[in-house]
Amino acid sequence: MQKIYFYITTPLYYVNDKPHIGHAYTTLAADVLARHKRARQIPVFFQTGTDEHGSNIEKIAVDMNMDPKAWCDAVSGEFKRMWKVLNINYDHFIRTTDPEHEKRVQAVFERLIKTGDIYPGRYSGLYCRPCEAFFEESELKNGCCPVHGTPAEKVSEETYFFKLSKYQKPLLEHYAGNPDFLAPRHRAREIINFAKSGLKDISVSRTKVTWGIKVTSNPSHTVYVWFDALLNYVTGPGFDADTSVDAFQMKWPADVHLVGKEIFRFHAVTWPAMLMALGLELPRQVFAHGWWTVNGEKMSKSKGNFIDPEVVAREYGADALRYFIFREAPFGADGDFSMEAFRRRYNADLANDLGNLLSRVLNMAAKYIENRLPGKPEAAKLFDTISAWGPEIDEKIDTMRFGEALDRIWQAVSMLNKEIDRQKPWVMAKDEPESVRPFLNDLVWCLRAIAGWLYSFMPDTSTRMQLALGIGRTGTEDLETSKPPQLFPRKL
Ligand code: ME8
Ligand code: MG
Repeated sequence: MQKIYFYITTPLYYVNDKPHIGHAYTTLAADVLARHKRARQIPVFFQTGTDEHGSNIEKIAVDMNMDPKAWCDAVSGEFKRMWKVLNINYDHFIRTTDPEHEKRVQAVFERLIKTGDIYPGRYSGLYCRPCEAFFEESELKNGCCPVHGTPAEKVSEETYFFKLSKYQKPLLEHYAGNPDFLAPRHRAREIINFAKSGLKDISVSRTKVTWGIKVTSNPSHTVYVWFDALLNYVTGPGFDADTSVDAFQMKWPADVHLVGKEIFRFHAVTWPAMLMALGLELPRQVFAHGWWTVNGEKMSKSKGNFIDPEVVAREYGADALRYFIFREAPFGADGDFSMEAFRRRYNADLANDLGNLLSRVLNMAAKYIENRLPGKPEAAKLFDTISAWGPEIDEKIDTMRFGEALDRIWQAVSMLNKEIDRQKPWVMAKDEPESVRPFLNDLVWCLRAIAGWLYSFMPDTSTRMQLALGIGRTGTEDLETSKPPQLFPRKL
């Protein structure tokens, strides 16, 4: 069996919080890429899900006086619901509490004990609960976690170690031999330096955490939450340490793991070492994007700057949100979310530039040429120019330069608006309506190209545009456009 699917993943989100704009970002990026591939007949397997074990979740459930599983069910359900609201079309939603996943993690753990890659010992050190990560004294800032700013706890317990040190050299060789593995390129340096500075074996089990997957051969231990969660990328598509599963061969290796920059190291160092220990191929790419702040600050409930994607989508439509987060900041870099900037782009780019263009053209098509168009672009100068940008836009989406793809599409939109202003077809049409036919044909064909390009970013908008532009109506030589839909009603 050989690989046939383009396999895309997002991190598994912790169920400690409701989904916010940051979680939506990664999952939407995966959706854009997935739709882009599917539209070109490439089979896609897009997996997302929730990370449900560990001391953090255990503590929240205790604080809430809830059974941890009941808590996980509720929050995991929130994520699923959100992805529906945002029109995200994943293929598999994995939960680390899925019995299949748990069983497979246990089998992996036992296999690595057998091969000696996992061995028993004792750990003492520093732990950040919100990160679920161990830290070196030198990595902390005044004893506090560099990500969360909260004090790290001293932990000392019996543990199983994973022989990360053994993979230092093979990892460095892999980075050197596969320049696309660490992306974007400007983030590779930090990983390479970290690996060069010397990799220590890492603790992969806890005795003080009960909310986790039990180690089969020593049930007083639970599997460390990151070891458990990273394995989702192979357990989801069906990897089993004991038996070979065809479904897995059709998907692995993953083509891209999309992650936020704060968990790049887990995905670029720990995870590939685990795969090497299992004798599995490494993913083709780990892509770490930047962080969204809100009004210049890190999002947090206490600051009251928590952006609920659902609220935004209900007011402005999911497509407007999908557009904004990829247009506002280059994927890879950090971005700042403000409702003011959102509204500005909504009115200027969507309601004005795109929405008006479509209604202008379709209204003129109704008025001057009875909505009838030839079945193919004829003598279409604008269309010749614009349609030649297709391959470049495709390439930008494939390499996750989503903002640049949208820039290019809006360049086409504004070019058409300018051409209409310049040629003033309503003046030409006064004397001789027939004379505007070639120009209007040209415009409609351009809009059809634009509607197609927008599909992965704004699936609903794209479909409504295509319908109004007569795409998909067969059986006649001529094509027929229809009344313009109102895509983006203006908002104050
Ligand atoms: O780290 N800006 O889960 P998590 C951009 N369970 N992206 C953001 C963001 C922001 N402000 N906030 C969150 C975990 N994200 C682990 C992962 S994977 C095997 C286990 C996105 O709930 C971004 O993708 O903390 C980030 O990496 C992820 O959510 C962290 O989600
Ligand atoms: Mg986090």
